[in-house]
Amino acid sequence: MRVLAIESSCDESAVAVLDEDRGLLSHVLHSQIDLHRVYGGVVPELASRDHVRRLVPLVRAALADAASTPADLGGVAYTAGPGLIGALLTGAALARSLAFAWGLPAINIHHLEGHLLAPLLEPDPPGFPHVALLVSGGHTMLVEVRGIGEYRVLGETRDDAAGEAFDKTAKLLGLPYPGGPELARLALEGRPGVYGFPRPMLDRPGLEFSFSGLKTAVSLAVKAPDFDPARRADVAHGVETAIVATLVAKALRALEATGLDTLVVSGGVGANRRLRADLTAAAARRGARVHYPRIEFCTDNAAMVAVAGLARLRAGERADLAIDACAQWPLDSLAPLQQQGTAR
Ligand code: KG4
Ligand code: ZN
Repeated sequence: MRVLAIESSCDESAVAVLDEDRGLLSHVLHSQIDLHRVYGGVVPELASRDHVRRLVPLVRAALADAASTPADLGGVAYTAGPGLIGALLTGAALARSLAFAWGLPAINIHHLEGHLLAPLLEPDPPGFPHVALLVSGGHTMLVEVRGIGEYRVLGETRDDAAGEAFDKTAKLLGLPYPGGPELARLALEGRPGVYGFPRPMLDRPGLEFSFSGLKTAVSLAVKAPDFDPARRADVAHGVETAIVATLVAKALRALEATGLDTLVVSGGVGANRRLRADLTAAAARRGARVHYPRIEFCTDNAAMVAVAGLARLRAGERADLAIDACAQWPLDSLAPLQQQGTAR
């Protein structure tokens, strides 16, 4: 089976074609970062309008790159949520309409399931069960993944997501949007140990996160009357250290709590090089292995939606004719693969 997948939940318009036997045949993407940068964050209405402009040419490009025609496809997958409702509707309406016009089944995919399954695109994919650390701009959670569709949320953030903490503290440092990669770059020039920011909730048992206090601490530091702007890189280093140390400690705690020895990291913050290096080293010390998607599949993309879509279509799941889009959709309400349909 070959599927075409569409992703439009936030500020990336993306399309991919995945073949059951031959793997990923194409994936194309248009990032709206330049469009939103002047506003310092994603403007939902502008995001929706840009998806409308970009998605049809991307579908054409993905099919051409895959040397495929609609007749070669066995289904169309699309991100149905969670995300920005207007943005989701653009991709859902297009995917559902294409499937109808082409006489193909469609399947509605949970965006976070896509992130969780992105490492399956790599040559040495993780087996099940494993623990996943899902760290994006909108979510920070530890999930026990027993199989496709079998997700038990072990802990999540009580306030800001890790990516949000990166983005908001970067903004306080005057860095452009999106701040995560910018802050990581500035941190490379920072000196370790100059700023010791709080490592949220490390002192408490459990697997929950809270990053909002970090924002306050950084705000106090940079707004202090004697703050020397030459120390911005030191602040960036301190922020990255606090976030990475917290994620590493909680991820290891989750491995311990579940008795599992495979950790999967996904979502945009999974692109952070210090997180990758520190987690790999810490996990190796306790005999565990960490799997990451390649950097381009950490951030939003359609290849990950295609992985989930192919698995669900092959299992016989089908979405009905409704254009399905849902801003909020709890991950653990998904049904395991062998059951038909999603329990929403
Ligand atoms: O998964 P993603 O592309 O979109 C969501 O579904 O949220 O994640 C985007 C988030 C942003 O907060 C961005 O700043 C962060 O991932 N991010 C990074 C890095 N690259 C992206 N954060 C830290 N270091 C990076 N290298
Ligand atoms: Zn995402």
